[in-house]
Amino acid sequence: MTSEAVPHVPIPPRGVDYRNKIVLAPMVRSGELPSRLLALQYGADLVWGPETIDQSMIGTTRRINERTGCIEWSRLPSNNGGYGDNTKPSIIYRMHPEREGKKLIYQMGTCNPDRAVEAARLVAPDVAGIDVNAGCPKPFSTDGGMGAALLKTPDKLCAILEALVKNIVPEFGIGISVKIRILKDPKDTEALVRRLVRTGIIGLTVHCRTTPMRPRERAIRDQLRMVRDVCHEAGVACLMNGDVTSRDQAVALMAEYGVDGAMIATSAEKNSSCFRSEADGGMASWSEVVESYLRHAMDVGNKFGNTKYLLAQLVPGRHAEQVGMFKGHSYSDMCAALGYAHLMDKAREVDEALEIDPASLKRAKEELERQKRQRKAEANEARRLQRASNTAGSGNASAAAAGGNMAEARSSDQQPKRSLSERGPSATTPAVAATAAATVATEVLPQNAAGIAA
Ligand SMILES: Cc1cc2nc3c(=O)[nH]c(=O)nc-3n(C[C@H](O)[C@H](O)[C@H](O)COP(=O)(O)O)c2cc1C
Repeated sequence: MTSEAVPHVPIPPRGVDYRNKIVLAPMVRSGELPSRLLALQYGADLVWGPETIDQSMIGTTRRINERTGCIEWSRLPSNNGGYGDNTKPSIIYRMHPEREGKKLIYQMGTCNPDRAVEAARLVAPDVAGIDVNAGCPKPFSTDGGMGAALLKTPDKLCAILEALVKNIVPEFGIGISVKIRILKDPKDTEALVRRLVRTGIIGLTVHCRTTPMRPRERAIRDQLRMVRDVCHEAGVACLMNGDVTSRDQAVALMAEYGVDGAMIATSAEKNSSCFRSEADGGMASWSEVVESYLRHAMDVGNKFGNTKYLLAQLVPGRHAEQVGMFKGHSYSDMCAALGYAHLMDKAREVDEALEIDPASLKRAKEELERQKRQRKAEANEARRLQRASNTAGSGNASAAAAGGNMAEARSSDQQPKRSLSERGPSATTPAVAATAAATVATEVLPQNAAGIAA
């Protein structure tokens, strides 16, 4: 039976049908706005945003960034122990209404039905669906009872989904879905999925790994057909996830397992053109993907640190460009390192808008270096002068004596010794040493003088 022939729960008017979709997985850090735009550019049918914890969203202010056209939810950071700039709002979530709004699924981390609804209300008018993360194995999620911890508290997970279905679907007209992992015992997975599909959700993604499994362990697909059957009985779309690496492979796997769609994470993180079928051109070179990514990142004014992180994922290791990239402090630096002279004007514009000022930072560093070099040169010169004056004093006397002019030698030796204060400012004091050094440098060492004075 094709997925179209399977009865399906109604899709809310502003919602999206997950059937026949190959989608970008939710990825914290790697699934920010430019990565999603890149995935859409190469043919992803839908994109999941990175998990965002309900409590981070609650209390944010929504605003439209006039320059980029993005919608941003931001808030003032907490005190942070007195460190950092607490007066500048941090952007918690950002999306582009025209370029992804109808294809964006907002994923939340939550362990509380009321908070889930409160957070969902903030974004529901702008996105195409809301997904609950019930699969993240990381302690920051599970310690708070979120993510994969919800697989062990099905009552709570169902209560969250029911609250979202009851409050968000009628008011905002979008669907609710959930992303889970398989449990070790297929019977437990089945029991869980049977409960989940009765909550009113429109879709369920199953990551075919158990909670303790590491990402490099191969996905286990032997529960997939069972999960699909349970989903289909209830009319819920079933998406598979885990080791799906390209559109063509996804199409083949969907046919093999009879699931409605497939979700790609790590392969898309490395090269988003995995969403493009061979028939449409297949995988693009990393250099093409990197340039496209950088253009998207600059268009939306992505946070520079995130862009730099993503570029490091997209540029294969050991490439000379990467060496330059790691040292970069700005979009201009990145474009220079990658040899994108044609993007330089745009990069400077974005640096300015984001208040990244590489020129001043660079100037400051160069100035500090110059001062250090100058201090060293002055000290060396002062030492050299001191040595020269010592040699002049004793050396001439001995030379005169050696030449037989003992009277001159004696008179030279017999100069009354004066105290330091009598001699006036000593050439060994820093001020005089510096003046002397400068004089000698100008008169005796014109090349050095030019360098020092530069
Ligand atoms: C960098 C990274 C961040 C992730 N963040 C999330 C997340 O926010 N929410 C989530 O449900 N899963 C998250 N995952 C898991 C993926 O969505 C996906 O389930 C997993 O990587 C398996 O798919 P794959 O085999 O295609 O990589 C993340 C994975 C990666 C690599």
